[in-house]
Amino acid sequence: QAFQEENRVQDRLAMMGTLASGLAHEIRNPLGGIRAAAEMLQRELEGAEDQEYARIIVSEVDRLNQLITQLLDFAKPKKLKKTSVNINQILSELLILQHSAMQRRKIALRQEFDPSLPPVWGHEPSLKQAFLNLIKNALEAMEGGGTLRVATGYISDYRMQVGEGKPTPMAQVAIADTGAGIPEENLKSLFTPFFTTKPKGTGLGLMMTQRILKEHESQLRVASKVGEGTTFKVLLKLAL
Ligand SMILES: Nc1ncnc2c1ncn2[C@@H]1O[C@H](COP(=O)(O)OP(=O)(O)OP(=O)(O)O)[C@@H](O)[C@H]1O
Ligand SMILES: [Mg+2]
Repeated sequence: QAFQEENRVQDRLAMMGTLASGLAHEIRNPLGGIRAAAEMLQRELEGAEDQEYARIIVSEVDRLNQLITQLLDFAKPKKLKKTSVNINQILSELLILQHSAMQRRKIALRQEFDPSLPPVWGHEPSLKQAFLNLIKNALEAMEGGGTLRVATGYISDYRMQVGEGKPTPMAQVAIADTGAGIPEENLKSLFTPFFTTKPKGTGLGLMMTQRILKEHESQLRVASKVGEGTTFKVLLKLAL
């Protein structure tokens, strides 16, 4: 029965992948046309203001194209190009964008960043996505308000569970909420595609986060207590 269940999930994922890449291709073609036309306008138009409108069309089309590339990546995972990434900066950017949502929900922010944290090794857009998913979950768990704690730090003697067990320095990011918490019986399902307890959830957030972190050879741990809150901890390799 477990096997059947697994198969169904695989089938659904495969179908979504096919749909996504088909759709992406169909959308890309007209976007190319729009972009070319807007670029032409940008050259032809006289007024600075009109040129600015045309420029906005071009840059928004570029943004859509990027989104579509991401969608295709999701359908057909490939190796992510890693660079040196400032994790404190990524997190502050994400938190600034959530500021008004947090005010609305009466959620306080405790931002505890280690300013001397060295850069980590990663693919910035994917890491942003992974942390955004965790932050959104934390906020969604605090319906009646609460505190979101986002902390970064340096762990000098972390031993990888696999391999030689040589001490490796790592960066740690903790995302902690004082929300509803996760019942014991749900903990094992968290990363299963389509597992959701939310009326409008898709249940893909944590699956994606886990997939991205796996690609970074990173570790993700969760601790939770019903009625008290949840903490997700991510360990990332440093860019050395
Ligand atoms: N911080 C958290 N506090 C309490 N429950 C959580 C937390 N993070 C995840 N969960 C539980 O795990 C489930 C799966 O999370 P996931 O992010 O994969 O999907 P979702 O949030 O339901 O939907 P989506 O992210 O696609 O909008 C959630 O529905 C929720 O029950
Ligand atoms: Mg989610």
